[in-house]
Amino acid sequence: PVVGPLSGRHVIVTAGPTHEPIDPVRYIANRSSGKQGYAIAAAAAAAGARVTLVSGPVDLAPPVGVTVIEIETARDMLAAVEIALPADVAIFAAAVADWRPVHEAASKIKKDGSGAAPPLAMTENPDILATIAHRSAGRPGLVVGFAAETDDLIANASVKLNKKGCDVIVANDVSAEGGVMGGAENEVALVTSEGIERWPRMPKGEVGRRLVAWIGARLANG
Ligand code: C5P
Repeated sequence: PVVGPLSGRHVIVTAGPTHEPIDPVRYIANRSSGKQGYAIAAAAAAAGARVTLVSGPVDLAPPVGVTVIEIETARDMLAAVEIALPADVAIFAAAVADWRPVHEAASKIKKDGSGAAPPLAMTENPDILATIAHRSAGRPGLVVGFAAETDDLIANASVKLNKKGCDVIVANDVSAEGGVMGGAENEVALVTSEGIERWPRMPKGEVGRRLVAWIGARLANG
C-alpha cells in the first residue's frame, strides 16, 4: 500500500451526475463530467488513503487503487455512501439531480398523436451531503461539500456551509464563460467557519492534490 499523509484513513468521494429515469430509455441528468471528483479520489489514494468512489455515469477510467461503486440515481448514491461508512473523510463532489420524476414508466412513453406532451411530475431527491453531515452517529470526522454557483459565489457558499452542516465548502464558479463544467481546469475558494481561502485557476488534478494536502493538514491538527 501507498504510504502518505492519509495512510490508515478511509475517504469516501462522490462524483459525476446522477441519472433519474423517466422511462426505460429516457432520464434527467446534468453536465457534470466527474473529472474533479475522480481527480480528488486519485489524489487521496496517492496520499495513502483507502478510497471508496461512489460514481454516477461518467466517461472516465477508474483511478488507480480506488474502489469504484457505480450508481445511477441519487437514492442509490445515498445508499452506497451509507453502506461505505464509516469514513474519516467524506467529499461530496457529485452533481446530484435535485429532482427526479415521481414515477418511472415501466415501458417507453409514446406520442399519442394529439400533439400534447406527457406531464412530468417531479419530486425532490434526498440531499446526500446534508444527510451524512447531520448524522449523529457515524458522521465522518471531516465532511467536504461543493458549491457550484453562477452568482454570488462566496455568499451562497457560506449559506450552504451552515445549511448542509459540512466543515468546508469548495466553491466553484460554473458560469458559462469560465468553462469549468466539463473543462480541465477549476478555480475554487475554500469556505470554512474560519474564513475564505481563494485558490488560483489550475488543472483539476492540481485542485485534487491541493485539497487532499489541505485535508491531511487539517486531520493532523485534530
Ligand atoms: O445545494 P447544492 O446542490 O448546490 O449543494 C452542492 C453540494 O451538495 C455538493 O457537495 C453536492 O455533491 C451535494 N449534494 C448532495 N445531494 C443532493 C444535492 C447536492 O450530496 N441531492
